[in-house]
Amino acid sequence: MRRSSTGSLTGAVALAAAAVITPQASGGTAAADAVVIGGRPVQVSETPWVVALASRDRFGGTRAGQFCGGVLVAPDKVMTAAHCVSKDVLGVPIGQVRDLKVITGRSELAGTGGQEATVSEVRIDPEYDAGTNAGDFAMLTLSTSLPAHHAVKAAGPGDAAYTPGTSAVVYGWGDTTGTGTYASELHAAPVEVLPDSTCEIAYPKSIYGTYSADTMLCAGDPEGGHDACQGDSGGPLVADGRLIGLVSWGGGCGQAQSPGVYARLSAAPGTWAVRG
Ligand code: ARG
Repeated sequence: MRRSSTGSLTGAVALAAAAVITPQASGGTAAADAVVIGGRPVQVSETPWVVALASRDRFGGTRAGQFCGGVLVAPDKVMTAAHCVSKDVLGVPIGQVRDLKVITGRSELAGTGGQEATVSEVRIDPEYDAGTNAGDFAMLTLSTSLPAHHAVKAAGPGDAAYTPGTSAVVYGWGDTTGTGTYASELHAAPVEVLPDSTCEIAYPKSIYGTYSADTMLCAGDPEGGHDACQGDSGGPLVADGRLIGLVSWGGGCGQAQSPGVYARLSAAPGTWAVRG
């Protein structure tokens, strides 16, 4: 979720964002290097499967209307978070967003590189629960296909990439400080897959959501300082070259005690509900 360029937050997003963006404790390292959080700029040509979701109508043109991330999983399929296509984030039902675009091949949002693909269909996990954030999966169908080799490989159930301790990278154009500083360039931050127990303890029944390993994956920096943040939602978490998660939620950004929560890719639904 991100602030619209008009400076006002749309509907429930105002509340959600206020609840999620918590100031860093003094002396915290979360904003140290500033990026996703603690990341570095990357060229999307190296990771062509990272895409931006955009609507200039809803979010203004300064950053090409970017409001969430996504990931190309097949030539005409983009996965993102279900909450990214919710009325809470968009201010209106997705069917009323006439200029929804998937921006590919563009690292710098203010630039003109790459392509802006139109979306022909939006589906979400029929079991998505906006209260707990369980099943935070959406699948977009593009009107035109992109090169097959631009799609990322997915880690299936039982893949070793889900093992706690595995090094992973999260990508996005979201907040780099936790205080509303949205990136215009794509960033990547190194995180580590954490044991489910870490997120179960951090988020028993929190105001942010309730952690459940059934559909969620816990990842972050045990020391704090590297994380996804607002505006990164729907974007990819990749380990050993395979997609393992989608940015979903967290308490604040980059804080050691509050890891990032991702939609666990191996729990993506086999059938989807049309949303529109
Ligand atoms: N819900 C946020 C979004 O819509 C993503 C938050 C991720 N937070 C985190 N600390 N990893 O962009």
